[in-house]
Amino acid sequence: SIHVFHAAAAMRAFSREQRQQGKSIAFVPTMGYLHEGHISLVRAARERCDVVVASIYVNPTQFSRNEDFGLAPAPARALQDEDLRKLAEAGCAAVFMPQSLYHAGSSANGGSSSDTGMVVGASEGYDPQAHETWVSLDHLSQGLCAKTRPHFFRGVCTVVAKLFHIVEPDAAFFGRKDYQQWRVIERMVRDLDMAVEVVGMPILREPDGLAMSSRNALLAPEDRQRCVCISRALTQAREQACACTTTDAAQLQQQIVDQIAAGGGLEDYVEVVDAHTLRPLAGDVRGRHVLIAVAARFGNVRLIDNVEFG
Ligand code: PAJ
Repeated sequence: SIHVFHAAAAMRAFSREQRQQGKSIAFVPTMGYLHEGHISLVRAARERCDVVVASIYVNPTQFSRNEDFGLAPAPARALQDEDLRKLAEAGCAAVFMPQSLYHAGSSANGGSSSDTGMVVGASEGYDPQAHETWVSLDHLSQGLCAKTRPHFFRGVCTVVAKLFHIVEPDAAFFGRKDYQQWRVIERMVRDLDMAVEVVGMPILREPDGLAMSSRNALLAPEDRQRCVCISRALTQAREQACACTTTDAAQLQQQIVDQIAAGGGLEDYVEVVDAHTLRPLAGDVRGRHVLIAVAARFGNVRLIDNVEFG
């Protein structure tokens, strides 16, 4: 069985009770629609700590208007039950599933029309007048995914900080599939002295190499075939760099750009960067800790993937 909490106070009380019993707490934040990638985080968390808490919350502040938040169908009841079953099976003790993590407006208009005429509330997103504190980073949260989604990491950091304050975990687990997100959160925790150990876990892949993602289910059948070019191009680039057959950053990047174009994908970015600073690398990458990160669209599905080496 698994505890399900909807209220922040009840979630926090559970964590504190566990801590009082001398148990360590691991945390796995998610947005639901769980697949093996998410579950691998829960398993790793279970190995590291006594109690695992997961969260399922589609955070409105990390999506820009007209992005997938608005398009995503409300999670069907059956899907939610399926998520809970998977979490329980992997050894998760509790799930935090808030209605909204953003306070409703101060006046009586929470959840209905605000005086700007905009409809606000849990179903729509959040009330911008009722939330004005944000966590953002100067440099790490620019570039890569932030180029097309400038407010993305501000939304992610703010909600993760809120979740950390509610769950009060000893360690939190993130996937390296969202590599920049992991680095940004690691840095936020360091800069703001949060008492949480941030753990980054390897990318789980489908048998053909495609990085697992809830979005893969949205791919048209022909795009599902084609998009394997992303992981193939990345793997090949890593192999060439590690074998020292191609070690020039621009050359590695160009090869991947070409392979994604040939595979029918529309590239958002292909970048060869330093794995810690995420700043672009130029010239010879030998001896560097390298991240090659890709975002590409197939149809209207945006996929991200990366390889790390050195
Ligand atoms: P979500 O996309 O649901 O992902 C939850 C966690 O699962 C993230 O840490 C992500 O990196 C990890 N994950 C996803 N696919 C993976 C894969 N194939 N292999 C390994 N890990 C994988 O990321 C978010 O939610 C949100 O931004 C969140 C952190 C919850 C804040 O709202």
